Amino acid sequence: MADQRTAQTPTPAEDPYEAAARAAAEDPERYWLEAAAAIDWVKAPTRALDDTRAPIYRWFPDGELNVCYNALDRHVAAGRGDDAALVYDSPVTGTQRTYTYAELTDLTARFARALADRGVAKGDRVIIYMPMIPEAVITMLACARLGAIHSVVFGGFSAKELAVRIDDTAPRAVVSASCGIERTRVIEYKPLLDRAIELAEAKPEFSVVVQRPQAPAQLRAGFDLDFAELMAATPEGAPCTTVRSTDELYVLYTSGTTGKPKGIVRDSGGYATALAWSMPHLFGLRPGDTMFTASDVGWVVGHSYIVYGPLLAGVTTVLFEGKPIGTPDASTFFRVIADHGANVFFAAPTAMRVIRKEDPDGEFMKSHDLSSIRAWFMAGERLDPGTYEWTTQKLKEATGRDIPVIDNWWQTETGWPIATNPIGLRTFPLKPGSPTKPVPGYAIEVLDAAGEPVPAGTEGLVVVRLPLPPGTMATVWGDDERYVSSYLSAFDGYYLSGDGGMVDEDGYVYVMGRTDDVINVSGHRLSTGTMEAALASHPAVAECAVIGVEDPTTGQVPRALVVLGGGQAAESDAQALRDELVARVREQVGPVAALKRIDFVPALPKTRSGKILRKTMRELADGRADVVVPSTIEDPAVLDGLREVLASTTGERPAN
Ligand code: COA
Ligand code: AMP
Repeated sequence: MADQRTAQTPTPAEDPYEAAARAAAEDPERYWLEAAAAIDWVKAPTRALDDTRAPIYRWFPDGELNVCYNALDRHVAAGRGDDAALVYDSPVTGTQRTYTYAELTDLTARFARALADRGVAKGDRVIIYMPMIPEAVITMLACARLGAIHSVVFGGFSAKELAVRIDDTAPRAVVSASCGIERTRVIEYKPLLDRAIELAEAKPEFSVVVQRPQAPAQLRAGFDLDFAELMAATPEGAPCTTVRSTDELYVLYTSGTTGKPKGIVRDSGGYATALAWSMPHLFGLRPGDTMFTASDVGWVVGHSYIVYGPLLAGVTTVLFEGKPIGTPDASTFFRVIADHGANVFFAAPTAMRVIRKEDPDGEFMKSHDLSSIRAWFMAGERLDPGTYEWTTQKLKEATGRDIPVIDNWWQTETGWPIATNPIGLRTFPLKPGSPTKPVPGYAIEVLDAAGEPVPAGTEGLVVVRLPLPPGTMATVWGDDERYVSSYLSAFDGYYLSGDGGMVDEDGYVYVMGRTDDVINVSGHRLSTGTMEAALASHPAVAECAVIGVEDPTTGQVPRALVVLGGGQAAESDAQALRDELVARVREQVGPVAALKRIDFVPALPKTRSGKILRKTMRELADGRADVVVPSTIEDPAVLDGLREVLASTTGERPAN
């Protein structure tokens, strides 16, 4: 008689998640070489991992390919040219347009040719500063086609931040648009671009500008080219340039703990392999399905799951130019899902929190047809249990089905999820507050400050044992040393994520927040150091600290404590000075910094070695009951004097 227990309980070998996790851990060479077969290589790799420069690892060292070919041409070659590749849905302009794989290939190839005709070649950098319009995707893919390295800069950053990135990458060209359209206003990009080029020492040779009717730009003869005119004058496309797997596909800047952003370098073959693997295994998506990721191409989520992931997998991607609310209202995401039959939706938890505020009963979900949706992904910040419960419940009320609401944890650095509920392999029972399990290929551990593993269920520093899987950062642009010192040298053999958290007895991962001075505002990753540098540039400021304080809607909000050079300002002058400082941060960092609250204080609490106690201040501002004041504090009276000021912002916290 058959053993009932054996028949009903899958053994680990039969469980696709366990099997994948074990295979990727025990024989990464074989596992990822097999995964690489999902990509069309010009020269197929014979090896997966190159560890000759450990701790800097490289993937598929002898492979050669073109990523644009894999995202576009090969689907056309396979007879899918008439299938939808990209659906542009723009409530801010009232536009909906579908591009087939054949059309997107043609446009991309022609724009690549236009760039190549003006000297852009393999290895050159191209900065992209654009709103969420099809030309942004076309430009990214055109660069990939030529083997040029793109670097997309989020539109909410200032001219100064753009200039920093121009100087770091020294691009041959910049591609932009005349304007972006935000919830409340049209933002002219061209003056910001001109100012950035003026500020930067590295001068691009030319720019290409998409002229938009909402605010056409003045083009400078001999430097600025009109995107549409270029396309009209370029009937022939450029072929795909073969690159090495290890050649750079893009550089994407992310906020670090210092004022200088880090240029995260992504390779070609490892990234293509990882994304192609992730689409069916983590997102449950296959050719012909539709993915709607409501992020921005300026962020890593946009790179991986608006552009490259879906297109590499032959999935239709929705490019959405709008916001969760105000374009025109909190129904917009659900309307887009219904209009385009999206099977998977992906956004930041902040988006659900702002929708919930406007539509607490989820009426907009109920009034749209969400029958196509299979899973609802959230990332960019921790999915707090309150938002998780609300979203799950309202989706159930709207659809009558249990749609998994999936938190997935990752970073610009990793390029794809580190921990998630891998629905294409196996759907684990959800635990609110946890992004579930490590993705196969990532060996997550939690260490204490001395580098010792902590017991299950204890919080510590979340690290990943090296090597990281394919698709993760190759290095910091032009600075291997910074890669090693920022990420790889804290604990020998580990990648330091910069996040704190724990792993419980069942192997579920919990990520609670940054352990450094990076903050997360509305799903945007920002550096407090950059904001401090902007404040400190004001002559009245002697010293300052910016901390991220919990906020029920945006996750965190920045808040500044400023010591004035000439002593405390009179209250009448203080407001004017505050306004000046807020304007300065907006001007130097960008509107996205959203610093609104500034307190003038007599002194900042420090350790005896002079380090400002930002973490302690943050905990006090968050109203935590368990704040431990470091024994190394120089003068406890300074901190005591700030307790009231800090507590005065303690508001409602996200539900835990
Ligand atoms: N270009 C130019 N300016 C931009 C911009 C862009 N791409 N994105 C944001 N800004 C500006 C906004 O207009 C705003 O300016 P204002 O202060 O003059 O109003 C400022 O930057 C702050 O923007 P934001 O924090 O986005 O606030 P908001 O009130 O406009 O919108 C949300 C709030 C929650 C709707 C929005 O932050 C959001 O959709 N967040 C989710 C983010 C996300 O998807 N992240 C990706 C991770 S997956
Ligand atoms: P970014 O590089 O902009 O994607 O930001 C990465 C950081 O955002 C991480 O280091 C985390 O601090 C945070 N983050 C992203 N996703 C999650 C998540 N699912 N849970 C908790 N924190 C997250």
